[in-house]
Amino acid sequence: QRLAGAKASHAEHPAAATEAQARLTVLYGSQTGNAKRIAEDLGRRATSAGLAVRVVRADAYPTRELKQERLLYLVVSTQGDAEPPDDSRALVEFLNGARAPKLEGLRYAVLGLGDSSYPQFCAIGRQLDERLATLGAQRLLPTGEADVDLETVTQPWLEQALQQAREQLKTSTPLAKVTTLRTARSTPTWHREQPFAAPLLLNQRITGRDSDRDVRHIELSLEGSGLRYTPGDALGVWPTQAPELVEAVLDTLHLDGAATVRAGTDELPLRTWLSERRELTQLTRPFFAAHAERSGDTRLQDFLAPAARDQLADLFARWQVLDLLRRHPVEWTPDALVAALRPLAPRLYSIASSQSVVGEEVHLTVSHVDYAIDGDARWGAASRYLAGRAEGESVPVFIEANERFHLPADDRDIIMIGPGTGVAPFRAFVQERAEHAANGRNWLLFGNPHFQSDFLYQVEWQQALKNGQLHRLDLAFSRDQADKVYVQHRLREQGRRLYEWLDGGAHLYVCGDASRMAKDVHGALIDIVAEHGQRTAEDAEAWLNQLIQQGRYARDVY
Ligand code: 2AM
Repeated sequence: QRLAGAKASHAEHPAAATEAQARLTVLYGSQTGNAKRIAEDLGRRATSAGLAVRVVRADAYPTRELKQERLLYLVVSTQGDAEPPDDSRALVEFLNGARAPKLEGLRYAVLGLGDSSYPQFCAIGRQLDERLATLGAQRLLPTGEADVDLETVTQPWLEQALQQAREQLKTSTPLAKVTTLRTARSTPTWHREQPFAAPLLLNQRITGRDSDRDVRHIELSLEGSGLRYTPGDALGVWPTQAPELVEAVLDTLHLDGAATVRAGTDELPLRTWLSERRELTQLTRPFFAAHAERSGDTRLQDFLAPAARDQLADLFARWQVLDLLRRHPVEWTPDALVAALRPLAPRLYSIASSQSVVGEEVHLTVSHVDYAIDGDARWGAASRYLAGRAEGESVPVFIEANERFHLPADDRDIIMIGPGTGVAPFRAFVQERAEHAANGRNWLLFGNPHFQSDFLYQVEWQQALKNGQLHRLDLAFSRDQADKVYVQHRLREQGRRLYEWLDGGAHLYVCGDASRMAKDVHGALIDIVAEHGQRTAEDAEAWLNQLIQQGRYARDVY
């Protein structure tokens, strides 16, 4: 059905050297699906150009074939600061390790994906690019470094990459037989660049009045869209910036919102650019640098020095675009402003419903990020946008598949760790398994500040327990007692049971905060596997890495 890497690679003959000579291999490492989508796009374009190409997910690629490759393109994202996507850990380790082969015969190019609001932007792409060169391979193109507004960098990079592939494959093997991949599924009608306007059915606060978190249960209609999703997939949402934020930016810069600005092929009023096409709630390095240069203020420029990386990261965590504009006033023209701001990117939310239960609807669990710093109101663009939508208003959406976060066969046990809004995909999992009458056991670990006000979907979980659709529920309400209790504390308490489930083939899922929770949970898992599996810490870690590679330990963290 899909132009999927893993399947394509298995369907092929063993890589004979001659075949490798005539073929392009595109490897991708993807956490949220962007790198995969781009790699598949490259695969499709190369196929249409008559080239032999295979597109392979990094963890489905037999690294022993590297030595025979002649032309290799790598599309890989960087998670957070400098982490590879889960499906690429093994490949990155292998290439960086002592057993990596000399690759003198190889020509390659790397397209890195990242988020420039992190200081180590595209670190994995850069690392791999340098490492391949060190191993003797010949770089065909400069590393692409794509920010969350992917197209700006990926489109020109893909074109160059394709051009290079044509030349390389044409010259090295003029008589090569062209094999083509099975054709891709037809492009869905609604996608990232052409979202579906989904009418809002329900927008309900599900945290109590005295909670300091405003978490919404949102239901959208997909009726008539033909959109399909699987539990574990995400919904992409294109937000519109809050009008008061747009006006504040215009006021601060003394700019006229009606001024026409042309960028690329679009000509729109400045106000529309700022509302619908540009990031305002996230400061990025390129914008910061452009602002610093305009201002000539050396204090700002100092932040860009490599040594100031941590300070810059700290600043980005606190300041939004408006803060920089207000605190360091500089003149901007409408055109320069639109050119310097990062294009708006959609936000991905883990879907909280199963279509076998809700049909043509999609449900989300959205934490409305709304707070104040130094008396100034701050918010997240998409959560504020969603929280502000009323019934009947529509939201531009698309489905982003997340194949690494899907349910296993019905008879497998699953362990779901989802504190806070990380519980969303597990609502979808439990709905789906209940509908299928799956016989694998379902264990959920959930945490939040208070039992009284923050027990998301409490009634549903209790019902599922009663109906035998949920087999264990462990709760960690962090602020209901003097000492913090987190999901990983519950994990440790249940260490023996957890190990037994895992050892018996259970699949483990973690969803939620990446910066602290997922790391601490991973640490707890290492200790548990070491203790109950009688392993050293290193062996326990290796054992868990194996689970990751087998797709039995999957993370959807942000
Ligand atoms: P806290 O805010 O009381 O510290 C969802 O956000 C829940 O995750 C909250 O109960 C929050 O607790 C908790 N949390 C915070 N840091 C965490 C961590 N490092 N590991 C696990 N849970 C954490």
